[in-house]
Amino acid sequence: MNWVKIFNSLQEAQSRLTENKPQLVVAGSIRICLVMRGDQFFAVSNRCTHNGESLSKGRVNFSNEIVCPWHGYQFDLRTGREYRQRSADLETFPVKIEADGVYIGM
Ligand code: FES
Repeated sequence: MNWVKIFNSLQEAQSRLTENKPQLVVAGSIRICLVMRGDQFFAVSNRCTHNGESLSKGRVNFSNEIVCPWHGYQFDLRTGREYRQRSADLETFPVKIEADGVYIGM
């Protein structure tokens, strides 16, 4: 697995992200929707598998799902699965926090 640094420290990530607010990040050449919830980070493909909308424009609900802003499909941030399986799963990416930065595994 190739780990791509997206922030230089946990503190930088926490200062640049807003809790529960999806954020677009580009890791390598891949567009990723990143969500910070408490001390956890979730990274999924930014492209909705239904019709391609940018999920970083969506919102996070109480069930730990990213909700697409176009047709409201709901994808689990851990598994990428749409809760009614109306479209393909999102690709998910691991996030790790090291002393020298926050990384996404590609
Ligand atoms: S494009 Fe995302 S639900 Fe339709």
